[in-house]
Amino acid sequence: MKKLFGVRFDGKEAYLYTISRGDLSAEITDHGATLVKLFVPDSRGQLADVVLGFDSPDEYTTSTTYFGATIGRNSNRVGNASFILGGKTYRLNANDNEKNNLHSGWDYYKDRLWQVVKHTTNSICLRLDSPDGDQGFPGNAVIHVTYTLDDNGGLVIAYDGVCDKDTVFNLTNHSYFNLAGHDKPELAMSQTLSMPARFFNPDDALSIPTGELRSVAGTPMDFRESKPIGRDILEDYEALNLQGGYDHNFEAFGIPAATLCDPVSGRTMTVTTDCPGIQFYSGNFLHGVTGKDGVSYTYRGGVALETQFYPDSVNHPEWPQPFVKAGEHYHSVTTYRFV
Ligand code: BGC
Repeated sequence: MKKLFGVRFDGKEAYLYTISRGDLSAEITDHGATLVKLFVPDSRGQLADVVLGFDSPDEYTTSTTYFGATIGRNSNRVGNASFILGGKTYRLNANDNEKNNLHSGWDYYKDRLWQVVKHTTNSICLRLDSPDGDQGFPGNAVIHVTYTLDDNGGLVIAYDGVCDKDTVFNLTNHSYFNLAGHDKPELAMSQTLSMPARFFNPDDALSIPTGELRSVAGTPMDFRESKPIGRDILEDYEALNLQGGYDHNFEAFGIPAATLCDPVSGRTMTVTTDCPGIQFYSGNFLHGVTGKDGVSYTYRGGVALETQFYPDSVNHPEWPQPFVKAGEHYHSVTTYRFV
């Protein structure tokens, strides 16, 4: 199914596409290749829309929450908004604290109108052509994002890219999940999270990694045993104090790399990825944003589990690198599975 989502800032129409498989269904818009709705049953078959979002393209454009957005070419932060590739310095927008780059700058992929190349009952593939110098990145890139609902309760998101120059590819999806339902923000912090991650990246006060990979052992960052997200979030621990809660990269370790569970409905989501990192963000900048159906998304009313390369990895050659050679194929897959 395809229906009009709204008219965008540039006068163009954006559409909403439904995909479904079994009990799962999702709505995706070509405005930013954004996941707008995701309906998931609980054990009694009760459906809830488990992602935060908006009712119109304009709200997605003006908001800085990045609800459900496809982020590219590079997700997360780049220190000093610059990096060196092939001996050349590339400068990005300093859109974060007037110094660093966040989610690739003002000219976000989330505000682009993507081209729908294929839409079936259970999948949609969207394409973006990103010209040489776009957002400051080298090369003409052709990017595809494919959302598929599979036979096993999975929402599979596949990213593909190819570029005519050596460049950066590090795309992610920026959905905020609340497995109780997007309209129950007060329940988000009581959901449990487990992540086998053995270390996380501490950041400076502007959220740029210090370079340390710190063991989670004995810290509130330890999710190796499942615990309610809100249990340790108020602990007096520097990394939590600096970021105002959880907003850190963890190594994506193990299969799954993360499991989120709502103890009330029993809805459980696993995250499996081929990315080296997972940014766990506990919605610390949500302050009563009005979202779908007029719901007020209050403080920490949803959490993001963004699979990606480590933040600022373009400036850390010792970490897994998001650089892709001219003509080489970038391919990455993350699955959010409801079990
Ligand atoms: C970042 C947060 C940022 C948020 C914007 C997340 O990916 O980790 O620091 O505030 O995006 O909504």
